[in-house]
Amino acid sequence: MESDYIIEDTDIRRLIVKAVEARDMAYARYSQFKVGAALLAGRENSSYADEVVGRETDSRDRNVNEYRVFTGCNIENSSYGATICAERAAVCNAVSSGYKDFKAIAIVGGLNSTGINGITYPCGICRQVLSEFSADMYVIAARSEDDYDMRRLSEFLPASFGAGFIYKRKLLKRWDIDGYAHLNGILLGGA
Ligand code: THU
Repeated sequence: MESDYIIEDTDIRRLIVKAVEARDMAYARYSQFKVGAALLAGRENSSYADEVVGRETDSRDRNVNEYRVFTGCNIENSSYGATICAERAAVCNAVSSGYKDFKAIAIVGGLNSTGINGITYPCGICRQVLSEFSADMYVIAARSEDDYDMRRLSEFLPASFGAGFIYKRKLLKRWDIDGYAHLNGILLGGA
């Protein structure tokens, strides 16, 4: 489902600045390629107000969503396959704090010796992990605050696999076993 969220210029800049800061934390012992990510994510209203950067309100002006920025850096491992990318580190941070409504992520990277000297696009695994939570979030691959390639995640990961496939198959499986009556029950009454 397309969301009607439109990112503002100040938020793009804020995310890029935070991603650059996060990149300093990278543990890139083996590749020397340091990556930083900053994820703007929301959760439903809660009693916490720390570091909240924005709010959505409903028609009666009640807070319905709070937003925060979560950062991540790449964390390499001597068993190379165990390496975690910056984007996924940011996702783990956000989801562990209850923020699953992803709006945008900024990514910066580059070899340690040369700094952020080119655009770093998210790898395939990270695109898939991000798409679990929002297919139309903004992905900002940045060189600097005013030099970036921003697109919707759906453009970076078209025709993707998602939760819908599994739900559909589960419904079909139950339909096989129990027949029309059960399927109708699920569709009308909820699973
Ligand atoms: N890396 C990321 O953190 N994010 C990406 O999207 C691309 C790759 C990291 C993983 C590894 O530590 C280093 O960059 C070189 O692949």
